[in-house]
Amino acid sequence: MATKEKRAVLGVTGGIAAYKAAELARLLVKKDISTIVVMTEHAKRFITPLTFQTLTGKPVFSDLFSQEHYDLNHISLAAHGEVIVVAPATANIIGKMAAGIADDLLSTVLLAARAPVILCPAMNDRMYAHPAVRNNIDILRNRGVQIVAPGYGELACNTAGTGRLAELDEIVEAVEGTWTDKDLAGERILVTAGPTREPFDPVRFITNYSSGKMGYALATMARRRGAEVILVSGPTALPVPRGVDFVGVESAVEMRDAVMSRLETVTVVIKAAAVADYRPASRAGDKIKKKRGPLTLELERNPDIIGEIGARKGKRVVVGFAMESENLLANAKAKLLAKNMDLIVANDLRQAGAGFQCDTNVVKILDLQGGVETVPLMDKLEIAARILDRVKALIDGRAG
Ligand code: PMT
Repeated sequence: MATKEKRAVLGVTGGIAAYKAAELARLLVKKDISTIVVMTEHAKRFITPLTFQTLTGKPVFSDLFSQEHYDLNHISLAAHGEVIVVAPATANIIGKMAAGIADDLLSTVLLAARAPVILCPAMNDRMYAHPAVRNNIDILRNRGVQIVAPGYGELACNTAGTGRLAELDEIVEAVEGTWTDKDLAGERILVTAGPTREPFDPVRFITNYSSGKMGYALATMARRRGAEVILVSGPTALPVPRGVDFVGVESAVEMRDAVMSRLETVTVVIKAAAVADYRPASRAGDKIKKKRGPLTLELERNPDIIGEIGARKGKRVVVGFAMESENLLANAKAKLLAKNMDLIVANDLRQAGAGFQCDTNVVKILDLQGGVETVPLMDKLEIAARILDRVKALIDGRAG
């Protein structure tokens, strides 16, 4: 079945951050979002239409009265976008939108549009703090416009303050959220991710190959679907997904404390972390010196976090993972039952494109009725969506 094309209009206005809109256009296209750029005349002073035309493969529009593309006038442009994102949005376009002024192509498209609008303000910090701009933003927010707030940092005018265009991944996430049903709104989902580190002296530790990608994908998708998300993560190199409540931990004991102290507040727990089952029995205060002969480390058991969750499960939905190198289904099923989980997601260490580090996974989702759903090779974000579909079905089943 052909997937439906996603369509966005990217409005670019005249601020120095207009150069970042080129990268934004590239990222949207990379996500298979057909993107048409509408620029203001001031934006063209900072960056040329040709840049956007090259990146999007589509004509760029700025003239309200141009007959060149008569089939793409302001009304049809407004209809093209399933979402309209304005980045950067200057104080000027924000003011015009709030007042309902339509005196150029972009402001006219914005007035004619019925699609969701995402505004990404970027300007000098004093302009952003001005009551007129704050009022206008409040008016627009109350009208349902989504504001991706600017960040704090160095500004073009050699000062530091709040006014920098939001990070592009945050804007892309907001745009992608337009196509996602908020079917998990009202749920509080705790996700664990990444490896744990079990130190035995100040410079060395035992760990595993988990990159955190599977857990971060789950947190991102759960947030996108409207859930409040707590992400408890061991050390990873990944950026924290936007909008999640992030708790960074190192060891299994720290992860246990972070999870158990929040358990009462959540409705769903998904344990994608690769928790070390053992830790060094002692930790030297100083770096252990090299000596002749072998070094023997004594290991002791770490807390079984999911086992503790299972024992205090209540009405929560609990999902575990199983990483196996043999007897995938039998081992996963044994863990599902022993730990009082509702679902277990089994991945096979030996399968190409599955498990640690890669951007994809191949999993089997086992349930308590003996069902086994095979999810073929796909991006971890898509795997996350499939797992969350099962979580949603369990939530609905319990409510009904
Ligand atoms: O992070 P990535 O590079 O993206 O890789 C993803 C992944 C392979 C880490 C992930 O998909 C995965 O399989 N995570 C669980 C790995 C694992 O620890 O499996 P396990 O079979 O040892 O543990 C079973 C379950 O018990 C897991 O949900 C685990 O989080 C939990 N557990 C394990 C040990 C322990 N002491 N406490 C736990 O809660």
